[in-house]
Amino acid sequence: MRLLVTGGCGFIGTNFIRLMRSAHPDWSIVNLDLLTYAGNRLSLADLEAEDQGYRFEHGDIRDPKLVSSLLEEHHIEAVVNFAAESHVDRSIDNPAPFISTNVQGAQTILECARRAGLARVVHISTDEVYGTLGPQGLFTESTPLAPNSPYSASKAGADLLCRAYVETYGMDVVVTRCSNNYGPYQFPEKLIPLMYLKAQAVEPLPVYGDGMNIRDWIYVDDHCRGVELALTKGRPGGIYNFGGNAEKTNLDVVRSMLSILDRNENLITFVTDRPGHDRRYAMDFALAAEELGFEPSLDFSQGLRKTVEWYKNNTDWLETVQSGEYRRFMGTWYEERS
Ligand code: NAD
Ligand code: DAU
Repeated sequence: MRLLVTGGCGFIGTNFIRLMRSAHPDWSIVNLDLLTYAGNRLSLADLEAEDQGYRFEHGDIRDPKLVSSLLEEHHIEAVVNFAAESHVDRSIDNPAPFISTNVQGAQTILECARRAGLARVVHISTDEVYGTLGPQGLFTESTPLAPNSPYSASKAGADLLCRAYVETYGMDVVVTRCSNNYGPYQFPEKLIPLMYLKAQAVEPLPVYGDGMNIRDWIYVDDHCRGVELALTKGRPGGIYNFGGNAEKTNLDVVRSMLSILDRNENLITFVTDRPGHDRRYAMDFALAAEELGFEPSLDFSQGLRKTVEWYKNNTDWLETVQSGEYRRFMGTWYEERS
């Protein structure tokens, strides 16, 4: 398979490319990434140096000329679209780049794929398009879309464009919706790596609101295997939920991190809540289990220990990704909440 992966220098894209290069040495992968503050080319530097089946292209998914020329030049058969602005807090601070990349960028990918007559597009979406749950129940693929943040609204917009390209042009597009990922290479603005950094530095750990919001955590490799299954076995036009069977309150997650690092719980600091903060996410992934054979394999406590080990062994990576832009946003966002 000749694959175009977008956003491959981000958290999930990097893990996906690594997994696919080792599982399918006969595939070739072109990685198109704009290298925003969240993208790090060094995360795949070893592949770039040594692996003939991997190639990096610096550029924007919103550039139709570039996308079309890559599809043609590399005889691409399928696209996996990870590229996005992915952080909910940033979308509250400034929604515009989210609409531009997540909606217009997704449409550009779909249109270029249509014109090139591509076999398949896999679009990576999120459980956040469903909005929020009460204490009971699970999101299924037929739960109505009810996004609550500019980020999730932009992701829902892209999902609807995927639907329109399936219905109008008969294109083969598969959409995946996954819950919260954690693992190696996650950018330290997200809960788990941020709490790791704070706990290691013995600094206050900022927990939004009462800390009782619930997320369903999945180890990133399990999500990536789900994407591989969607790519190779998904039904044309199919939508698949993936989850980790690991519902945790944010307080549970933060306490687990403090316990692994042997730090005192008095570091936990409750700060002003995120506006529009969804209370609970939980996934029913029976359809993906039945049609694709998807099953998450790693439980949360094993996965969290593995993740902490990775961050401990990759302090250089953590320092490199904390750019000036990272420090600027983190400074102003948390100053306003304290
Ligand atoms: P990330 O922020 O770590 O990485 C995003 C990558 O996209 C970066 O490398 C960035 O440089 C690149 N990018 C951004 N704008 C671009 C553009 N215009 N053109 C080309 N490249 C661009 O994100 P992530 O956490 O790896 O998420 C990847 C995808 O998975 C996103 O679509 C996100 O919505 C989805 N998702 C994430 C999670 C999660 O828990 N992280 C869960 C479900 C779905
Ligand atoms: O559910 C899937 C989504 O998970 C993805 O679509 C998004 O791209 C990804 O960023 C993630 O979104 P969340 O908003 O759930 O992730 P985040 O790590 O930002 O926050 C997880 C929870 O922790 C959330 O309830 C907010 C809370 N939180 C987060 C931060 C950064 C805090 O309490 N304090 C913090 O400092």
